[in-house]
Amino acid sequence: MNILIAGSGGREHALAWKLKQSHLCEQLYIAPGNAGTGTVGTNVPISVTDFAALAAFCIKNQVEMLVVGPEEPLVKGIYDHFTTNPSLSHIMVIGPSKQAAKLEGSKAFAKEFMQRHDIPTAGYREFDETNYPEGTEYIKTHPLPVVLKADGLAAGKGVIICTNHIEALAEFELMVQQAKFGDAGKKVVIEEFLTGIELSVFALTDGKNYVLLPEAKDYKRVGKGDTGANTGGMGAVSPVPFADEIFMEKVITRIVEPSIKGLQKENLDYKGVVFFGLIKVKDEPFVIEYNCRFGDPETEVVIPRVENDLVELFTAVAQQRLNEITIKVNPQAAVTVVAVSSGYPGNYQAGKSISGLEDAAIEGSMIFHAGTTQEGTEVISKGGRVLTVTSYGDNITDAVGQSMYVMENLFFDGIYYRDDIGYEFATLPPSA
Ligand code: AMP
Ligand code: GLY
Repeated sequence: MNILIAGSGGREHALAWKLKQSHLCEQLYIAPGNAGTGTVGTNVPISVTDFAALAAFCIKNQVEMLVVGPEEPLVKGIYDHFTTNPSLSHIMVIGPSKQAAKLEGSKAFAKEFMQRHDIPTAGYREFDETNYPEGTEYIKTHPLPVVLKADGLAAGKGVIICTNHIEALAEFELMVQQAKFGDAGKKVVIEEFLTGIELSVFALTDGKNYVLLPEAKDYKRVGKGDTGANTGGMGAVSPVPFADEIFMEKVITRIVEPSIKGLQKENLDYKGVVFFGLIKVKDEPFVIEYNCRFGDPETEVVIPRVENDLVELFTAVAQQRLNEITIKVNPQAAVTVVAVSSGYPGNYQAGKSISGLEDAAIEGSMIFHAGTTQEGTEVISKGGRVLTVTSYGDNITDAVGQSMYVMENLFFDGIYYRDDIGYEFATLPPSA
């Protein structure tokens, strides 16, 4: 079948790489894609939110499956656009409906959903213009740190962790009264700060059944040892050593199953990935957030560990046949290390020529492009996160070592990457 992936990051390159391996995949298109996806399939210059242009492209090119990478088109209703239009409803859309995507698109919706289904999460209250004075009083007596979350999508910037009440009150005012994160951010969730270690768990669901994909841990801070500013993600590892059987059993029974059942009970149409952003507090899992899509850079380690045919898997999602599927996982560890442009996540330069791509590729490693574009014979940087190197290894340390080896052969002006991804899981050498 012909398949269209919507998106242009490392996540979409990893999905393209995997889908293309299937004997069921004929033409593979990526809208708009990057230089890396252009080597696996055909890039199409259409924005992920231009539903009319995507739909016209699908019809013209007999696309039968649309795989949606980022959250924005999902939250804006791409699933509904396709499934409610008779000329498009034969196309399998991998992603949730607009209403279900509110699990990511509205923090308040997600918190209320968790409350209704008794899913463990940080205690909270929600406030907006209508109960603003109550909000200020609530903040004044809230234990510190206190977490403020803008309700709507805020490009990953809508969560503010405040270590004193003055700062929290100022941020609250900016969000509610000055619309710091736009109108959707004028509603604010104020919640307890949870202390623990985070991980990402992915369930692929057809709305009735689900399968778990390998878990992952991403590294959000820009600096070594998890210091400095928050980024979209500087690297990821899978598996996550502390996610042992006992812990994952708790994740499944207290979080994954009640969430999938909750979607069903509330008639929320969901045929895609539920991404559980979790935190382990002592030995107990809590939900920090839901996302309605694959993670980036987690996908670059999760998908390489899935041994199933991804087209078969997604078809089972669309046809509600996931009960027939068993996920086969590669027992090797996978690590991905992201190369960014210096200055990221602040101001950074783009338009840098990338060298070494052909020579760097070695067996057991994949170079997934993120912010890149092809200009003639050259690959040029186009975003803060430029590319990522995923490697397999017998353990996390070996996989990191191999990604470092590949990375050393790649170059662009201002290249920066963390060399300590997975540091807390490092395997000591036998002599140490
Ligand atoms: P989000 O935008 O929801 O992914 O939140 C961004 C990051 O803020 C999370 O990955 C956590 O590191 C942190 N965070 C969010 N909520 C909490 C919380 N209740 N307690 C501790 N950290 C949090
Ligand atoms: N890596 C976190 C995310 O994709 O939201």
